[in-house]
Amino acid sequence: MGTSRSAQWYAGADRNAYIHRAWMRRGLPSGAFDGRPHIAIANTASDLTPCNAHLDEVAESVKQGIWEAGGVPLNLPVVSLGETQVRPTAMLWRNMAAMATEEMLRANPIDGVVLLGGCDKTIPALLMAAASVDMPAVVVPGGPMLTGTFRGVPLGCGTDVWKLSEEVRAGTLSAAEFLRSESSMIRSKGHCNTMGTASTMGLLAEVLGMTMPGLAGTPAPDSRLLEGAHETGRLAVEMIAVGRRPSTVLSRGSFLNAVVALAAIGGSTNAVVHLLAIAGRLGVELTLDDFDRTGSGVPLLVDLQPAGRFLMDDLYRAGGLHAVLREVRDLLDPDAITVTGRPLVDGLDDAKTYDREVIRPREKPLREDAGIAVLYGNLAPGGAVIKPAAASPHLLRHRGPAVVFDSVEDLHARLDDPALDVTADSVLILRGCGPKGYPGMPEVANLPLPPRLLAQGVRDMVRICDGRMSGTAYGTVVLHVAPEAAAGGPLALVRTGDMIVLDVENRRLDVDVPAGELAARLPSPAMTEAFARPSRGWERLYVDTVGQANTGADLDFLAGSSGDEVPRESH
Ligand code: FES
Repeated sequence: MGTSRSAQWYAGADRNAYIHRAWMRRGLPSGAFDGRPHIAIANTASDLTPCNAHLDEVAESVKQGIWEAGGVPLNLPVVSLGETQVRPTAMLWRNMAAMATEEMLRANPIDGVVLLGGCDKTIPALLMAAASVDMPAVVVPGGPMLTGTFRGVPLGCGTDVWKLSEEVRAGTLSAAEFLRSESSMIRSKGHCNTMGTASTMGLLAEVLGMTMPGLAGTPAPDSRLLEGAHETGRLAVEMIAVGRRPSTVLSRGSFLNAVVALAAIGGSTNAVVHLLAIAGRLGVELTLDDFDRTGSGVPLLVDLQPAGRFLMDDLYRAGGLHAVLREVRDLLDPDAITVTGRPLVDGLDDAKTYDREVIRPREKPLREDAGIAVLYGNLAPGGAVIKPAAASPHLLRHRGPAVVFDSVEDLHARLDDPALDVTADSVLILRGCGPKGYPGMPEVANLPLPPRLLAQGVRDMVRICDGRMSGTAYGTVVLHVAPEAAAGGPLALVRTGDMIVLDVENRRLDVDVPAGELAARLPSPAMTEAFARPSRGWERLYVDTVGQANTGADLDFLAGSSGDEVPRESH
């Protein structure tokens, strides 16, 4: 028996070791406690997280790999979050899932963990947990669903719901046909197949070095996902033998690689918050400014919806993530390693692109300068984010009067009002949607345009919000404004009619009101009323301790790595 973590529970002839072993026997082979590694499979499979419902099958393949390599696999169901199912917003529960997983990894007699995730918040939560416990850990991304077709045309999961519902309103699609499209859109197991947050975070988990090379982006029903899961089980055993942990793998270079990849794949702005939170768990230096410095000049190379035409299945067919990374290899940190112990860039030599429509060559990108720009000013002293490539070029420098909404409910109540005093030059501001304000920072920043302006042919306006935006959304949207209005940010002091100045080139976001006048204002009573402090439970803990978007919106007491030690024993 060695001095492994599990041996601290199982080794020896005393009563405590007896108790730990005896209750675990139930079919384990007699050699299960002879020092071989015990490996949890942190499994977010759930019927209520439909994108992850197939992960039990994936877990079986991981288990076989672990057994084969001499380990003992142990299924560990953990908190799961279905993006389309949980209310009020899945982001409210990301930190809870991360905290609960962290504690269960630390509390149990395991030497390492294989993390099974898919739907938007699940991989970020698992990575945050593993980073804090810092035991050998490797991710198996559950993979995207297959492309569905309807009326002979591919359907982008999520993105096309809006298009089809507009067709119903326009009378070009019957309500019955609309309903028939449901199973065409969600054709198979797996997560959304556009370049939304789930696809982005699955791919970035690999860029960070946390998956077996070549696995991310494998469609959920593809046999190669199960092969990869099997190999990952074997790899987990090897990682434990050499002590390869998140802190070994995840360097600043790994995160900067992820920032480069985020721009090249046209990934979701949500990745900014998630990457900051994961880095925060390890104490790796990563700031909002790194996204601008390192990522804003990177070209968009992947033609996937919502920015482009294709879907995740096509990306895999065209050569996958490695083919994209090969195009930007010179921008990647050559020293950043993966869970294999070898540099990420080493795996790129054999990458080939089989479809240049889907994966563009570096010299012919879909868009230049596709990364995130970070804005500062008297409206966003802590920073705000915009994706210039998703914005209308003529709005990147804009001055216009604010039309302010104090909450999502206020927006819904007034946006359609024909009497709303708004023009195409107005700047729509939605506040009360940050981590504390909503609470949970929902994806509402891409607020709809007033119908009157839509009817006039207006298709984009400057919008500003302290919330997030769906990975599938586009427009001239300034989001993640920090500090948020509910945390005392100056966004709370803006009034309808104030002139807002957006200057993306110079990275500025300001309200043209003298500093003294702004400081003398009080937040509007309607906005203050909308922020009732929750009376109990997780929401209370969350609102009292959540940080701002510019540092990852984690709970303040969860930053940093606490390790895998458990000094006390109650038996
Ligand atoms: Fe699960 Fe889109 S709803 S990934």
